[in-house]
Amino acid sequence: MDMFPETENVFVEGGATEKATYLSVKNVTKVFKKGFGVFRKGQSGVVALDNVSLDVKKGEIFGILGPNGAGKSTLIKVVTGLVIPDSGDVTLNGLDFRRDKEKYMQSVGAQIETPVFFNKQSGWWNLKYLADLQGGLPDGRIKDIVEVVGLSGRINSRVGTYSMGMRQRLGIAQAIMHKPEFLVLDEPINGLDPDGIVQVRELIRQLRDDYGTTILFSSHILGEMQTLCDKVAFLSGGRLVAVKSREEIERGLGDAAILAVVCDEPNRAAALVSEKFGYRTKVQGTTLYVEVKGGNTADINRLLIENGISVVSFNVKKRTLEEMYKELTR
Ligand SMILES: Nc1ncnc2c1ncn2[C@@H]1O[C@H](COP(=O)(O)OP(=O)(O)OP(=O)(O)O)[C@@H](O)[C@H]1O
Ligand SMILES: [Mg+2]
Repeated sequence: MDMFPETENVFVEGGATEKATYLSVKNVTKVFKKGFGVFRKGQSGVVALDNVSLDVKKGEIFGILGPNGAGKSTLIKVVTGLVIPDSGDVTLNGLDFRRDKEKYMQSVGAQIETPVFFNKQSGWWNLKYLADLQGGLPDGRIKDIVEVVGLSGRINSRVGTYSMGMRQRLGIAQAIMHKPEFLVLDEPINGLDPDGIVQVRELIRQLRDDYGTTILFSSHILGEMQTLCDKVAFLSGGRLVAVKSREEIERGLGDAAILAVVCDEPNRAAALVSEKFGYRTKVQGTTLYVEVKGGNTADINRLLIENGISVVSFNVKKRTLEEMYKELTR
């Protein structure tokens, strides 16, 4: 099925050259005045975004990671023109939202916070209605979209009977109906069960791989970011604390692996390991813990066996993204 026929596939060109910036966010600050927008003297307001800058390249899956209140939704709203920042610039493919609103919005599809639908109507009715609001779409095209998001079996049921995951997928269907080059999703996996998470993850990956869609999405679910995103921006208290590529995250996590070895002579094993590799070790009962820094854990196993130590179990515990996040936002 050729859903986005005109969309160039950005991945066919060898990938050797650095891709140009697609979305550019520069020094964006947004302060919400407290009291529902009413400014009161002496009240400072909530700094939702504090001088945030980031670049998203064409065809990237870019994640914004942060706890509740970090500013994720605000950043997403700024990028989709729903919130105008107090200062800073946002451009998409060189277009400034404030100057070229119409053209800018033509490239964007978005699902922000919980999607709202007419519950008494079917999924199909809702999509058709939303398509009509934007000039209409042929039924065949809506059918294709429904298939892409995996809702074909239930599209004629009332939305009120949908599960959370189905609503999310209908929200994504709505966001991709007009084949946007740029898809923005706020917490697309929020509230989904493990199956739903896998489905939405596959859908995001498929949109990027098959249609070259650039995707920006937010989440506070750390593991998801690690498997899906090319880059992750760590947001905390309105500040962008770091942007890491998937390789950097994997390397960072791998660097600080903790090895737990249950063996018959843990103290002798500890001495052997620290002498040969210089790693920090700790013994607790029959378990030897080794802080492996970028090394090969198989070498440790071999060393112990060669020295006549009986290894009962051998487990590598990688540093979690959560631990990395805590370090970055400390
Ligand atoms: N319209 C608004 N008026 C006042 N304050 C707001 C408004 N929108 C957001 N804020 C505040 O800005 C900060 C960032 O909010 P935002 O919704 O961007 O966070 P978030 O990272 O999306 O959080 P969550 O994970 O809970 O969705 C919060 O302190 C929030 O209370
Ligand atoms: Mg939010």
